[in-house]
Amino acid sequence: MNEEQRKEQTQAMEGTSSADKKSGQKKDYSQYFQTTYIPPDLKQAKKRGKEDVSVHYDFEIPEDMQGIGKGKKFLIRTYGCQMNEHDSENMAGILLQMGFESTSLTEEADVILLNTCAIRENAENKVFGEIGNLKPMKRDNPGLIVGVCGCMSQEESVVNRILQKHQHVDLIFGTHNIHRLPELLKNAIFNKEMVVEVWSKEGDIIENMPRARKGHFQGWVNIMYGCDKFCTYCIVPYTRGKERSRRPEDIIEEVRHLARNGYKEITLLGQNVNAYGKDLADMDYGLGDLMDEIRKIDIPRVRFTTSHPRDFDDHLIEVLAKGGNLVEHIHLPVQSGNSEVLKLMARKYTREQYVELAEKIKKAMPHASFTTDIIVGFPNETEEQFEDTLSLMKEMDYDSAYTYIYSPREGTPAAKMEDNVPMDVKKDRLQRLNAVVNDISARKNKAYEGKVVEVLVEGESKKNPDVLMGRTRTNKLVNFRGQKTSIGELINVKITEAKTWSLDGEVTETAEVK
Ligand code: 5AD
Ligand code: SF4
Repeated sequence: MNEEQRKEQTQAMEGTSSADKKSGQKKDYSQYFQTTYIPPDLKQAKKRGKEDVSVHYDFEIPEDMQGIGKGKKFLIRTYGCQMNEHDSENMAGILLQMGFESTSLTEEADVILLNTCAIRENAENKVFGEIGNLKPMKRDNPGLIVGVCGCMSQEESVVNRILQKHQHVDLIFGTHNIHRLPELLKNAIFNKEMVVEVWSKEGDIIENMPRARKGHFQGWVNIMYGCDKFCTYCIVPYTRGKERSRRPEDIIEEVRHLARNGYKEITLLGQNVNAYGKDLADMDYGLGDLMDEIRKIDIPRVRFTTSHPRDFDDHLIEVLAKGGNLVEHIHLPVQSGNSEVLKLMARKYTREQYVELAEKIKKAMPHASFTTDIIVGFPNETEEQFEDTLSLMKEMDYDSAYTYIYSPREGTPAAKMEDNVPMDVKKDRLQRLNAVVNDISARKNKAYEGKVVEVLVEGESKKNPDVLMGRTRTNKLVNFRGQKTSIGELINVKITEAKTWSLDGEVTETAEVK
């Protein structure tokens, strides 16, 4: 599509969109998608096959695209979860191989990619704000390529909105076709066309995409993609597709490679890591088996995220209890403390089953810290049901919790539920919940005072560059004064003062660590 055609199309779209509003009809923009695009639809999505996913080891950047970035710079702005951060590392790897250089300055960039998150409405609003901010830059520098990718691109409504209102965007692609970036970018640069390629069906697993890791001592390792849990509020099973596990040998090789390169900490990533291996048709192999092998690799710390209680099995608990490089931190999202709400959320466990599982883990890992995710204000949540969440917080004595107000996501079953809870009640519940969570966090942190902990030094504190920050094995944030040369190292820190969200300490030689 050239500039002229684009204008025409935009005018046509603007025309229809106001007519659409009156008639209530939905415009079909499917011609913009290079494969048939299916908007989020629970029934359709649940029908997705269990057919094998192919694994490809032959990714390469076509020769004619290798140099097209010479003398140009790129900037990737990442929103949302660690999976997105990691995807951005892949995109950066691809761009570097195409000859681009990276920059952190918007004014310097020739290519700006927004890697977006769809989990809640406010995440999306932030991105739309940023897309709007880039408009004057694009006007001043028509050669600038603006791309939108990640989870929001997988939503039809988002693509439609960009097509209608943000024609300065040059490129839209999704979560399943990152490996197509060279071709897509080439088209966007040379043809001056708005390139939209979103795959509604997940792609195969591409093993050897280039990767420019952000850190030199902490690394993310994907173990699986997608999610088949279909919690009723969640957009992820639609934006990220069905569960696909990487082959264990590929994961282990990647971890070994990181270990050889001096990495101190890895985080195994997946939307629901506990389902790891279920789709590997030729083997009976799960997360417990994988962790048991990774445990033997010489890398000091191994984390994993994110867990679903439903698939957290005994073998995994047994392996985690062996400790060593498997750290004492369990993030186990519960979402609500009320069994009826959990049922409506399709979490497939009751409060009692969750507590039973958590107790089992705590017994096996007595020193582990426990964190969780909570949604307040799910449609029709009653005061009593919310109070069950408060009481669960106390019963579980969580070290900390990520707390959210429910945000309806178009196409999910919960978004169709009527909701009688006003927003000010939801906000009030969030505040009350946070007050309880903070009280518990402060008390749990207090128990660290006087103790010596092993800290992986991550860098300068954001608030004060004279202070360093790092994390304990239990994932507590520690601030202390020390040598910058210790960044990337494991050191001992004596905790002098506990705060609600962090610990203050001083470097010590003492070897007693926890
Ligand atoms: N509204 C609010 N919070 C949500 N989460 C997922 N979907 C929604 C939604 N629609 C939260 C859950 C999940 C975390 C990553 O984000 O708590 O565990
Ligand atoms: Fe979303 Fe997590 Fe539920 Fe999957 S398990 S649907 S990612 S909340």
